Amino acid sequence: MIIRLKHLVVAVIAIPFLALLIGWSGLIGVGASSGHWAITDWFLHWVMRNSTRTAALSIEAPPLEDSTMLPPAAGHYEMACAMCHGSPVTPRPELVRHMLPVPPDLGPRIPTWTDEQLFQIVQHGVRFTGMPAWPTQKRPDEVWAMVAFLRQLPGMSADRYYELSGLYRPPMEGEVDDLPLSCESCHSARKVGPGSLVPSLAGQSEEYLLESLKAYANNERPSGIMQMAISLLPNDSFPELAHYYATQTRPQDSAAPVDADLVERGRILAQRGRSEDKIPACLSCHEKPGSNPVYPRISGLSQPYLERQLHLFNEGIRGGTEYSHVMREAANYLEDDDIVAAAAYFAQRQE
Ligand code: HEC
Ligand code: HEC
Ligand code: HEC
Repeated sequence: MIIRLKHLVVAVIAIPFLALLIGWSGLIGVGASSGHWAITDWFLHWVMRNSTRTAALSIEAPPLEDSTMLPPAAGHYEMACAMCHGSPVTPRPELVRHMLPVPPDLGPRIPTWTDEQLFQIVQHGVRFTGMPAWPTQKRPDEVWAMVAFLRQLPGMSADRYYELSGLYRPPMEGEVDDLPLSCESCHSARKVGPGSLVPSLAGQSEEYLLESLKAYANNERPSGIMQMAISLLPNDSFPELAHYYATQTRPQDSAAPVDADLVERGRILAQRGRSEDKIPACLSCHEKPGSNPVYPRISGLSQPYLERQLHLFNEGIRGGTEYSHVMREAANYLEDDDIVAAAAYFAQRQE
């Protein structure tokens, strides 16, 4: 039979109607209980792998060896991923084994992906599967930290997982049950030493802490990790938390390694700024008696945290309180080596 143009036109019009008719009839099952046919399963995962591979072609991984990335990512994994994928200390809950597709045990899967592909999956999630996107698209640095953590996950011991995530191990006989995963699992004094990417909150200005928590809650300060951490709290607990941390004493860690030349360059920037490059003196706002109480205390914060935040201001990514624009302006003209020097100075500065 010769296929005429007329037949083709009729088919093109009829097929969508037929599809609608089948959809309307209710004959297509959407129940998850019976699973997919094996071929559907294979096809969907094949499409997902191909799509991830293509999308990841334009992504380039930064170096991921830096171990400071691991603790905040591990804490976030416990809060936001373990409930579906399980962890070295908990198997996947029974409930998620009835999802379609079932969230996989990541151990055997991680080695089948490149760093860039893992980034693509964790940053954007996977449509129609329940695999969520990162809570903000503005913090690739946090997603890379998660990739660094995922690389270490296969075969990770329970002790290492407890240590990184800040989860306290289950109490031994005779010990008191410790705090579950909470603010302290990431912010406790024993975790926020000189090499930490997580800031110490102890002794920070109460107004600044309160306004910062609101800024995370309102999406004014993008951080998938903090947005997730406070999503579980009632908003009216913010003042109490801000008060709690503001009244702690910030540990003065004199063990932080100090490069004297670097600190000296940082000191000049802090005290005088560099007017020819439109960089104001940091100390004209920070640690100045009588200045706005929302301005944070930055002396004694860790070097990696200070550097990271200065980069975020400099790139225009970091928001914050209603005064954050003044800090974005102050950081606008900082060069990379100014950032390292200023961070080195404030990290070792004692008040
Ligand atoms: C609500 C459940 C759920 C949560 C929460 C979740 N995932 Fe997933 N994840 C899935 C499902 C379902 C898949 C399978 C997708 C597929 O096969 O197409 C998946 C796939 C993945 C994969 C690809 C593995 C593979 O080979 O298919 C990675 C990597 C991953 N998730 C990491 C994470 C990380 C990291 C987090 C936390 C930030 C997370 N997931 C949170 C459900 C979840
Ligand atoms: C999984 C780890 C983790 C948990 C849990 C966590 N935080 Fe954080 N917190 C971070 C990280 C990482 C940052 C830096 C985020 C950024 O880049 O803005 C941060 C930043 C903050 C800041 C801003 C501090 C500053 O100097 O600007 C406040 C305030 C804060 N956290 C309070 C809390 C409170 C209160 C809780 C408990 C409800 C909590 N955090 C739980 C990791 C965590
Ligand atoms: C005009 C006032 C002003 C000047 C000058 C200034 N800052 Fe700031 N800075 C702020 C304010 C306000 C914030 C709080 C931003 C927010 O709303 O989260 C801040 C925040 C910061 C933070 C983040 C602290 C934290 O806990 O997350 C760092 C780090 C910082 N400033 C470093 C510097 C350095 C280094 C300089 C000098 C190069 C500088 N600042 C100059 C006003 C200023």
